[in-house]
Amino acid sequence: MNMNPEINGKTELCGVIGDPIGHSVSPALHDAAFRALGLDYAYVPFHVRRSDLPAALQGMRALNIRGLNVTIPHKVAIIPLLDEIDPPARQIGAVNVVLNGSGRLIGYNTDAQGFLHVLSEHGIEPQGKNIVVLGAGGAARAICFALASQGASLTILNRTVTTAQACAEDISQTFRLPLKVLDLNRKNLAYALHQASLLVNATSVGMLPAAGVSPVDRDLLGTHLTVMDIVYNPYKSKLLREAAQAGAKTINGLEMLVWQGALAFEIWTGHQPPIDVMRKAAAAALKRHCAANGQIAAAATAASQ
Ligand code: ATR
Repeated sequence: MNMNPEINGKTELCGVIGDPIGHSVSPALHDAAFRALGLDYAYVPFHVRRSDLPAALQGMRALNIRGLNVTIPHKVAIIPLLDEIDPPARQIGAVNVVLNGSGRLIGYNTDAQGFLHVLSEHGIEPQGKNIVVLGAGGAARAICFALASQGASLTILNRTVTTAQACAEDISQTFRLPLKVLDLNRKNLAYALHQASLLVNATSVGMLPAAGVSPVDRDLLGTHLTVMDIVYNPYKSKLLREAAQAGAKTINGLEMLVWQGALAFEIWTGHQPPIDVMRKAAAAALKRHCAANGQIAAAATAASQ
């Protein structure tokens, strides 16, 4: 393995902005990739509150930070603050990667492509399938657009139905496909899941520290479903544990995190991402994080996969 140089006057800086940010495994994932390729880069998590987002982007320019990942709650709010938006990110209406090109801040979306990589690795072909997405925030938008681009039939359920309607209207401007929007409640979930083959939780429900909840009652899950949760902390969310108990196939959110990170790495460095290195580093970081939270059993599972 190559070693990257110590931090010096030429080191390029990348990072992630979000609130909360303490749980992020992105620093470990990117640091491992920089080291594996011997790149003179460093990666730092930045805790940026909603009201500080404009100042944080000014700081990115002033400090000549090369690239940022963007996470909760900034993926949608960041758009008007950037100089340029890559067309797919503009269409999706959410940005999860920023590149600083000589002072011009350019927004990208790698969540959508990352999500499609994960589906493809699991042999899932969305074309013509009934797919249920929970949530209508930044991550959900990327997932819904990715699925729409592949010709899926979509049902979007969200706690705030107007947000889901706005997402559906934006999708309809580009794609002609069967598209339903419903309130996120038990009756609607029962109806939507009955006909579905894939369920994606793109809400933050079930994420630490509130890990004891699931957005879907266990009796609504069954062998006809593949269940994917973008929540990766805890490694097995309550939704994924109950889905497995109900005989459904499960896909962990860490897979999408790794892929969106790998695509971001390529944008910032121009190098092919070392995906296996990033995967192992993310699982190991999550293991450390889980152990620190007393979740040793969950951590052992994460590290062994
Ligand atoms: P991200 O950028 O990761 O998508 P976000 O834009 O803040 O984050 O979106 C969070 C999603 O989780 C939203 O769909 C949100 O629902 P609302 O639109 O109603 O806010 C959903 N969410 C968060 N907490 C929730 C809760 N306790 N119950 C149901 N949905 C929740």
